Amino acid sequence: LAITGVLGASWYGWSRLGILEGQVVGPDGPLAGARVRYHGVVEGTSTDASGRFRLAVRDNSKAVTATKENHTIAAAVASRSMVLEVARAPNTDDVHYAWIDPDPDPAQPKQCGNCHGDIYHAWDASAHARSAVNPRFLDMIAPRNGRSSWNLRDEHPDGIGVCAKCHAPTFAPPDFDYDPHRAAGTAAKGVHCDLCHKTADVPTDKLGTRFGIDGLDLRRPGDERQLFFGPLEDAVRAGETFVYAPVYRESRYCASCHEGVVFGVHAYGTFSEWKESFAASQGRTCQSCHMASNGSLTNIAPGKGGVERDPRSLSSHAMPGATAAMLKKCLALSVRTDRVNATWRVTTEITTRDVGHRVPTGFIDRHLVLVLEAVDASGVPVVPIEGSRLPAAAGTEMSGRAGKLYAKMLVDSAGKGPVPFWMPAEKAIDSRLFPDDADRATFVWPANAATVRVRLIHRRLWPHVAKDRGNETLVHEQTLELK
Ligand code: HEC
Ligand code: HEC
Ligand code: HEC
Ligand code: HEC
Ligand code: HEC
Repeated sequence: LAITGVLGASWYGWSRLGILEGQVVGPDGPLAGARVRYHGVVEGTSTDASGRFRLAVRDNSKAVTATKENHTIAAAVASRSMVLEVARAPNTDDVHYAWIDPDPDPAQPKQCGNCHGDIYHAWDASAHARSAVNPRFLDMIAPRNGRSSWNLRDEHPDGIGVCAKCHAPTFAPPDFDYDPHRAAGTAAKGVHCDLCHKTADVPTDKLGTRFGIDGLDLRRPGDERQLFFGPLEDAVRAGETFVYAPVYRESRYCASCHEGVVFGVHAYGTFSEWKESFAASQGRTCQSCHMASNGSLTNIAPGKGGVERDPRSLSSHAMPGATAAMLKKCLALSVRTDRVNATWRVTTEITTRDVGHRVPTGFIDRHLVLVLEAVDASGVPVVPIEGSRLPAAAGTEMSGRAGKLYAKMLVDSAGKGPVPFWMPAEKAIDSRLFPDDADRATFVWPANAATVRVRLIHRRLWPHVAKDRGNETLVHEQTLELK
């Protein structure tokens, strides 16, 4: 309806020429380098030094949008010599702002899930949606059944607020008595939409030591205004302010929670591992692997004002971690067997590709166990004569067997480990795989070995920590005949 007014004779006069001309004005006058496009159309143009643009006429039923990095997005119906006004992103943050809950609820019109159904379902199935109530996490900060170890409440009681910074970032009890067991309402939704999309920037000057919500440069409005930051240059919704923030497509956006020196220990290092990786030098960001388009999302708010878009211009909020599919994609295990001087020499090679950090990464307990077992023709185990053996940390079932542990293990001053990252540690023994690399190992058995079974196991938690906590293990297995 709004556009019928301009569909007069004069409209056809200029739009038939095929070029739409206009100007973008910013807070200090004409704005150079602003991005202009039709709503939902990927191709666009930039303004010149005097803020002017010329855009090939496309579908004039769509609004024309303009913005520049860290400015608001302006939108208007196409018209002759149109002027679009953009403002700088607000620079105030109201700490009393009440976070909007992500869940769909027709009685609460502001809630994201009401309009962003597909994105909501992807996020809701992700680890981010459960970071505050994940039973493995809660059981570590306050175990129920009198555990003697990996029990933060007994071992480091005032550390719980530190965990909440990343796991329950919007949990802020007025009495400063942090206990994410008490997180309710929106705070219990963990790393949720409103928090992530009120982030204007993620400075890395105090990388690792200022983390979680403290590392996010937030802009919470002090009035009823709706304000969101995001990666799109052309998001439009009546009555709402969107800011185009390119940081959403940079790895550092994830750094404040995926990098952390906690209690003096470099417990989380994914962002710094990425910075050192070949992926980083190729410009492959965290988002390019963990938020890649699923090819099917074409409208971010269908039926609620969203427009059809090229699916490749949108992302996925499912954020898979070390799933079987991700591990299969990034790890390849090959085994070679050779008969050498009346022995069997077995060489394993694990190669990593399409991964942007060490493997495993993330939570410090994550580890990979390579284990090899040989048996003779009648199935009796044969003891290896050469090659590395698994340490006790690999678990009682694995300890002493031929194999290798890939882990970041904290050990105390007596050399005992693993210890939890909130307990005094002397050093970290880091044997994890590097991205785009290969790790070889050789094991030797006497000639009576007939078959060798090779397994590569990914575990979330150390075996003794996992007891009753639920450990998901993923196994890659192959059995080779020695002949
Ligand atoms: C961990 C932080 C995080 C959370 C939680 C999060 N987002 Fe996003 N969101 C991002 C990032 C980063 C991008 C940009 C990804 C890219 O373009 O590579 C994005 C992109 C978007 C976009 C732009 C369209 C697109 O697909 O790129 C919309 C809309 C959006 N998010 C809405 C939501 C909603 C709604 C929720 C909750 C249901 C949500 N986000 C939860 C970080 C987050
Ligand atoms: C506000 C903090 C925060 C931000 C920002 C954040 N994350 Fe996370 N992320 C977490 C927490 C906490 C977990 C662990 C949740 C759990 O397992 O309970 C997590 C888990 C993950 C996982 C593991 C999923 C799994 O199933 O194992 C991936 C992958 C991930 N995040 C990717 C990202 C990417 C990519 C970004 C940036 C676009 C990002 N995160 C931004 C806090 C954050
Ligand atoms: C009443 C419907 C509605 C609700 C509720 C809603 N949005 Fe949106 N949102 C939209 C529409 C419409 C767009 C623009 C769609 C387009 O341009 O295709 C949008 C766009 C966005 C964008 C894109 C901004 C950019 O520049 O990348 C983000 C991010 C976003 N919304 C986040 C949220 C979050 C977070 C919530 C909940 C706190 C929320 N929205 C609630 C309708 C809604
Ligand atoms: C080139 C692709 C690629 C890039 C870039 C990348 N990742 Fe990953 N990521 C993977 C793969 C593959 C896995 C599964 C293997 C593993 O656990 O290391 C993974 C696993 C993870 C996990 C899950 C760990 C777990 O135990 O479940 C987290 C968290 C994570 N990545 C975060 C990030 C963050 C944050 C960045 C950017 C700083 C990033 N990733 C960059 C491919 C990538
Ligand atoms: C700097 C941010 C940050 C802090 C601080 C932090 N975590 Fe985490 N935590 C994460 C991220 C990110 C992941 C996801 C990594 C992955 O999936 O491997 C995670 C994963 C975990 C997991 C694994 C969950 C699972 O299902 O496997 C546990 C348990 C955990 N954290 C406990 C804690 C405890 C206890 C504290 C406080 C002593 C703490 N974390 C402090 C960011 C943080």
